Amino acid sequence: MFVFTLCLWFWFWLSSVHGLEFRYHNSVEMEQYLKDIHETYPDITHLHSIGQSVEGRELWVLILGQHPREHRTGIPEFKYVGNMHGNEVVSRVLLLQLIDYLTSRYLSDPLVTRLLNSSRVHILPSMNPDGFESSARDCIYTVGRYNKNGVDLNRNFPDAFAGNTEQEREKEVRAVMDWLKTESFVLSANLHGGAVVASYPYDNSNGGSELQKGYSMSPDDDVFIQLANTYSYSHSEMHNGKGCYGSPDFTNGITNGYYWYPLQGGMQDYNYVWAQCLELTLEISCCKFPPESQLPGLWEANKPALLAYIQQVHLGVKGVVTDSYGMPAVNAVVEVAGRKNLCPFRTDHNGEYYRLLLPGNYTITVTYAGHNTLRQTIQVPYGPDTFSALTHNFFLQKSDYSSKATQLPPSCTTANLGVPQSDSATLLPSVFTTLTLLLLQTLLLS
Ligand SMILES: *[C@@H]1O[C@H](CO)[C@@H](O)[C@H](O)[C@H]1NC(C)=O
Ligand SMILES: *[C@@H]1O[C@H](CO)[C@@H](O)[C@H](O)[C@H]1NC(C)=O
Ligand SMILES: [Zn+2]
Repeated sequence: MFVFTLCLWFWFWLSSVHGLEFRYHNSVEMEQYLKDIHETYPDITHLHSIGQSVEGRELWVLILGQHPREHRTGIPEFKYVGNMHGNEVVSRVLLLQLIDYLTSRYLSDPLVTRLLNSSRVHILPSMNPDGFESSARDCIYTVGRYNKNGVDLNRNFPDAFAGNTEQEREKEVRAVMDWLKTESFVLSANLHGGAVVASYPYDNSNGGSELQKGYSMSPDDDVFIQLANTYSYSHSEMHNGKGCYGSPDFTNGITNGYYWYPLQGGMQDYNYVWAQCLELTLEISCCKFPPESQLPGLWEANKPALLAYIQQVHLGVKGVVTDSYGMPAVNAVVEVAGRKNLCPFRTDHNGEYYRLLLPGNYTITVTYAGHNTLRQTIQVPYGPDTFSALTHNFFLQKSDYSSKATQLPPSCTTANLGVPQSDSATLLPSVFTTLTLLLLQTLLLS
């Protein structure tokens, strides 16, 4: 009996020291791993499926945090999405390693403990399990990139700059769009391979004022650059900006998506424009499907960056907007002066807003039907250092005259969140841009 206990203890010790094996787990093994992790750490994890792939594989999401089962006021929601292109597989491995790292170190490692106490981290290790199962183990080929229907999932989202609203959505894309309606995600990244660079919105343009010298600039460009630099400089090599396989270098290892190459129907623009979630596209390895022996090194190179990027969820300001009865004001428009977002940021069903901003002074305007418009200037510190954005609540007063809510562009209303209307005049594409995009899209794939 004693020997048996000793063996058991030794086995636990071994698995806690060595953790998860560095190899490619297939979909069945991955599902088993996620279930085991949830069973081992039920207090800080929650496992659920956001839908199924075309071939019926579950799209598993593991949530990590002090309160994994539900949102808490003031705790921002963060997400990582891996393996969207089925043959870009490093992210799938690294996100499982990240799960292993975060769960095994909670309450012993100060950084991990503070991250999980201050934010709720959602991890979808594979958005395209069907593509993964059909992938060629190759560095550059595209076998396995697409879903079972042969569709590129990172070209299948509604696009604010293109009239692709009637396009059919793939099951995997529909699942992510529905997922975005269930949580107010604040910050996100989707992980790819074939390059080493942090790419940020916009990925597309219709030649409007956002287009500046081949760069499609969003109103939150300063924040996106800070987010991309955080990843590239926390990564052991990305900031050196070396292009893979002789392709051009990237200054500081970051790039505007459109400037690199324009693409239509991408996930990061969709998150930013319609879900108020700032998202980067992280390219984390030159080789899309490297030999397993390279996986530990890739984990060491990316680990500090994956952690530092989560901490950026605490940039800026957050809070609750209440109406004249002290109740949460839902869908109140919260605008930062000088930032004209395509869809204005609004409070969610809890009356909460989150706005990622660099340190500085900002004037914020809150508009809500039947209430006086509030305009306040606030001083925003650097939140990540304290693991919290500045909390600033807004208390609205009934207006004496009948004031109306800000008119949202039709494609921005909550009812249409995933289904933008095609009659929105400001968001029409130019035929020329669309054609150029289609051409480039077929030439450049990463
Ligand atoms: C994190 O939360 C746990 C559980 O409430 C608590 O025991 C711990 O002291 C907290 N740690 C930090 C660093 O906030
Ligand atoms: C922000 O405002 C405060 C208080 O008015 C002022 O002291 C500070 O210098 C301002 N900071 C910036 C960056 O303008
Ligand atoms: Zn990719």
